[in-house]
Amino acid sequence: MKKTILLYWAPGGNVEKAARQIQAQIGADKLEMLDVASFNVSRMDAYENFIFGIATIGAEIWRDAKGDNKWNEFFVKTENKDFSGKTFAFYGLGDQVLYPDHFVDALGFLKEEVEKRNGKIVGFWPTEGYTFTDSEGAADGKFFGLALDEDQENEMTPERIKKWTAQISQEMKL
Ligand SMILES: Cc1cc2nc3c(=O)[nH]c(=O)nc-3n(C[C@H](O)[C@H](O)[C@H](O)COP(=O)(O)O)c2cc1C
Repeated sequence: MKKTILLYWAPGGNVEKAARQIQAQIGADKLEMLDVASFNVSRMDAYENFIFGIATIGAEIWRDAKGDNKWNEFFVKTENKDFSGKTFAFYGLGDQVLYPDHFVDALGFLKEEVEKRNGKIVGFWPTEGYTFTDSEGAADGKFFGLALDEDQENEMTPERIKKWTAQISQEMKL
């Protein structure tokens, strides 16, 4: 069976909460889950599908190698890896009201880094139903993954996760 793992950062907040909801929907028998700092990149080849979870905490931080950014560390460690043959889906936490010009920007960071390594990306999600002015995490009416807003629309999270997990389960053939 194809192995699938969800990697997320940071632990203890909304990103981890969403990770648990996603794992509950897909089933713990089909989807492993780990914070990205605990994941040994030498084990990447044991998996065919990856779900990456991230929060946008100020756009500039994601590109600051010196910051406490474990996603950045992961991409430094996998700089020379080829992700061909692997499939990726992303979800991102953000806040549309406080950060309407940068809503879920970090989805754009994940897309850029995975594309550089030739990974296939699925799980694109319509921007319809969200209210924001700009995002590095979307283009042509689609987010590059599931956008979640626990600060302003937490009541919509379970339904969004349900639909998106059904979508990626098909796309990844889980
Ligand atoms: C300092 C700070 C900066 C943030 N910047 C952004 C931002 O640029 N864009 C956005 O959509 N959300 C932004 N947010 C909102 C967070 O992404 C959101 O609260 C998220 O749910 C936090 O996830 P966590 O609890 O796992 O850390 C910011 C939050 C904080 C505290």
